Amino acid sequence: MMFLRRALLAGGSAAATAALLAAVAVGKSGGKSETDSLTPPVTTGKWDRNWDRREPVSMVNLQKINGETGEEELNAKLTKHKAKATRHIFLIRHSQYRLDGKTDEERVLTSLGREQAELTGRRLASLGLKYTRIVHSSMTRAKETTEIISKFLPGVKKSSSDLLREGAPIRPDPPVCHWKPDVEQYYEDGARIEAAFRNFIHRADPKQEEDSYEVIVCHANVIRYMVCRALQIPPEAWLRMSLNNGSISYLVVRPTGNVCLRMFGDSGWLYAS
Ligand SMILES: *[C@@H]1O[C@H](CO)[C@@H](O)[C@H](O)[C@H]1NC(C)=O
Repeated sequence: MMFLRRALLAGGSAAATAALLAAVAVGKSGGKSETDSLTPPVTTGKWDRNWDRREPVSMVNLQKINGETGEEELNAKLTKHKAKATRHIFLIRHSQYRLDGKTDEERVLTSLGREQAELTGRRLASLGLKYTRIVHSSMTRAKETTEIISKFLPGVKKSSSDLLREGAPIRPDPPVCHWKPDVEQYYEDGARIEAAFRNFIHRADPKQEEDSYEVIVCHANVIRYMVCRALQIPPEAWLRMSLNNGSISYLVVRPTGNVCLRMFGDSGWLYAS
């Protein structure tokens, strides 16, 4: 990207094109294995601008670019792939539920949980934002939390996703003794929760004209994993954090792909009254 910007500033179109090809080539070799598998990339401490595979320079069709491609044409191609809007993503942990239920259907919200969901719904409404949609995990506790929250966000479309179900995202480091899922559970859930991250957390589509305010109701492990991935923190760190029931975590994804965590596990309003 830096090469490209420098070349575009210099103005030479042939130079710009050569630089673009070089920049893309670098990005390509770096990201190849990650694109091919559902394991998270290795974090380096340096921000990967193409973390969501939506960095315009990585999306230009190389076959159609050659030494003859002018600077204007190149810029037009890049602009076509550029996001314009900011995504505001509110990650809600379902509220308290019955741990004694044997099946998912029996693990319904407790009366305290229903109360927490009401308060979280009120809290979201009080922020006065123009919510775009609510996506929730298909598990009972997330569905029930969503039903209650959505009373406070009338007219906002709801949809369900199996990708967001609770699970074991990746072996935590350091390990803990009270929670030891089997190897195959990480193997199955890890890929699915990584897919959830790739589906729901990325910069806006270039076609999106206005900023969006999206609510995702799911689970503590899924939220912690997605927050680590979004911030490019090693995902193995997810269990070093904890989240209250009914809490709100809030990610902002800018059109540049830059990400900011504005809240994590915010739940002050649940205890204020
Ligand atoms: C959330 O609720 C579960 C039961 O549904 C309970 O075990 C847990 O301690 C609660 N977590 C917090 C942080 O209050």
